[in-house]
Amino acid sequence: MEDRNESKVNEAMSTPNSCMKRLQGKVVIVTGGASGIGEATARLFADHGTRAVVIADIQDEKGVAVAEAIGLDKCSFVKCDISDEEQVKAMVDWTVQKYGRLDVMFSNAGTPCRSAQKVLDLDFSDFDRVFRINVRGMAVCVKHAARAMVEGRVRGNIICTASAAATRGCMRLTDYVMSKHAVLGLVRAASQQLGAHGIRVNSVSPGAIPTPMISANLEEASSYVEKNYGPLTTLKGITSDVKHVANAVLFLASDDSTFITGHDLPVDGGLISLANPQ
Ligand SMILES: NC(=O)c1ccc[n+]([C@@H]2O[C@H](COP(=O)([O-])OP(=O)(O)OC[C@H]3O[C@@H](n4cnc5c(N)ncnc54)[C@H](O)[C@@H]3O)[C@@H](O)[C@H]2O)c1
Repeated sequence: MEDRNESKVNEAMSTPNSCMKRLQGKVVIVTGGASGIGEATARLFADHGTRAVVIADIQDEKGVAVAEAIGLDKCSFVKCDISDEEQVKAMVDWTVQKYGRLDVMFSNAGTPCRSAQKVLDLDFSDFDRVFRINVRGMAVCVKHAARAMVEGRVRGNIICTASAAATRGCMRLTDYVMSKHAVLGLVRAASQQLGAHGIRVNSVSPGAIPTPMISANLEEASSYVEKNYGPLTTLKGITSDVKHVANAVLFLASDDSTFITGHDLPVDGGLISLANPQ
């Protein structure tokens, strides 16, 4: 009996009824929406009544599959490399042309380093690749989303994915840590400059979340996160999940956060450090 009640509560939480839908009629873009945090957020946005979700990603097979799963009447996939300004501008223009406006940009696409990237051995070709995507690409997405919102006189919302690594150091991954610190700089500058247009700019900072960025095998990703980061979170009895981040992004994208801008929202279970065994 109790179990049945609990599952009813869970069902009600995952499929909101029309008065609980928090993005009714909104047109949103999710970069990096083919996988992980972006995919979970795209699905949650659609559950909350968006008129259109545009998934922008370099992984076309996965992106098309997510768009089809959400429903091609309310979700599109656009292949777009965020490090190329022309592609981002074209993707944003396409969205506005097709759906008439842009309300929300979830600028989430990002990349990890390919090696340990300790200061003493920094490889600058990978450093440049990481910065090209995580810093330049993030700024390009914010720029073109903001332009579309200003031109369309939309009091829009921009949310960037930073990281727990945006506010502390780490024993490795130097360029990734630096790139995520830069995301906070972008959010703070853009929120001040765009406030006059009624556009809010915030970020979420996930701790360690099992996604393909950690391992293509999600079971492996989960046990890696549990083993290495479980002891470092102050909140016990709960395992990190993409849905936790998606819920925080939904809050920042919706009118529930209507007076919040320039804020970084950690979603990390109270992570106390990025101490890492490797
Ligand atoms: N998973 C974590 O523990 C964690 C922690 C903190 C922050 N983050 C950040 O969360 C964001 C999402 O990562 P995730 O964990 O969901 O990983 P993921 O690998 O599942 O998703 C990242 C997505 O970004 C896309 N992408 C990468 N480069 C791109 C480019 N140049 N143009 C367009 N799309 C591109 C990938 O194809 C992929 O679909 C990233 O910004 C990441 O840095 C992740």
